[in-house]
Amino acid sequence: MQPRPSKLRLQHLTTNNEAMARCLQLAGLAARSDVPVVLLGETGTGKTLLAQAIHNSSKRGNGPFISFNAAAISDTLLESQLFGHERGAFTGAQQTIKGKFELADQGTLFLDEISEMSPLAQVKVLRVLEYGEFERLGSERMLTSNARIICAANCSLRERVRLGKLREDLYQRLNGLTLLIPPLRERLEELPALIATELQIAATKEGKSITAIHPEAMDKLLRHDWPGNLRELSHTVRTMTLFCDDSVILPEHVVFPADLEPDRAASATQQPEPLPASNHQEADAVVDLSLECAIQKHVRLVYEQTNRNQRRAARLLGISRSTLARYLREVLKNKSPSA
Ligand SMILES: Nc1ncnc2c1ncn2[C@@H]1O[C@H](COP(=O)(O)OP(=O)(O)OP(=O)(O)O)[C@@H](O)[C@H]1O
Ligand SMILES: [Mg+2]
Repeated sequence: MQPRPSKLRLQHLTTNNEAMARCLQLAGLAARSDVPVVLLGETGTGKTLLAQAIHNSSKRGNGPFISFNAAAISDTLLESQLFGHERGAFTGAQQTIKGKFELADQGTLFLDEISEMSPLAQVKVLRVLEYGEFERLGSERMLTSNARIICAANCSLRERVRLGKLREDLYQRLNGLTLLIPPLRERLEELPALIATELQIAATKEGKSITAIHPEAMDKLLRHDWPGNLRELSHTVRTMTLFCDDSVILPEHVVFPADLEPDRAASATQQPEPLPASNHQEADAVVDLSLECAIQKHVRLVYEQTNRNQRRAARLLGISRSTLARYLREVLKNKSPSA
């Protein structure tokens, strides 16, 4: 089992996926250097965890690991957050506070969601990175910070530069080594081991003794596309542990977070279950060559092929889930169109 993030080191992270192995190999190089690192990956792929592991495995491991979420802070609080302030620097500043750069001295400053940084924040951060100096609000004393920078984003930073959302000069400063964390759906070979570990954790938390996963339940987990990546995996395993009252996880225990959303639950109540078999209605059918009929058949086909996963089917069809639900209701009402 993995240690908690504050103790996690790179050697605790293992993989049997080639792209992830490459990523971890680069992470090893990053840990041996002070080069700025950019971690790119979808939400929940483990960017924050990897940043922490790189820090812990580096020579700064005993120093501080300080996070700053660039998207979550308003411009008014920005400077005081980044550089700190002196007591009395502004109304309400009752004590002297150190900023993130100062706190991260001799350690690592993790700049999260860097692609969403406001233009002002970009200018302020760039200034420190270029000149290595800053002052607390309300003070003229120049401070320096020897912080190693790791940043994370869930989209291409080059694209953000192209769109004029990210300063080119800041991008150049931050972009030492770029690590791409692949989404979970591209690391399916890791799933069984990850599920086993998460199951062990969840079963202990819930006080259950679960000894196996039914092959159909495992199949359902392997077919899922995990839009929330490892975070979603951990929630799903926790939920299935809750639902399981025996020692074996069955397919009906596997419920994905999206299945629990209100719109999904509502449409699920109207969902044709089971859908009429395609040759069922053909006996009394008049051949229907309308486009509407063809669309309904196609919708039903994709829905079946995705193992009745509405979210996935809607995505493949390029329609919203509510539109899909409407089509599925039509399919049921029409007893499905004939060939
Ligand atoms: N290799 C891994 N093994 C097990 N659990 C992991 C792994 N990587 C990440 N996780 C877990 O997945 C969850 C999400 O990880 P993390 O917060 O690092 O993702 P993130 O990419 O930073 O997400 P976001 O984009 O939302 O900030 C956490 O609970 C973390 O512990
Ligand atoms: Mg994160």
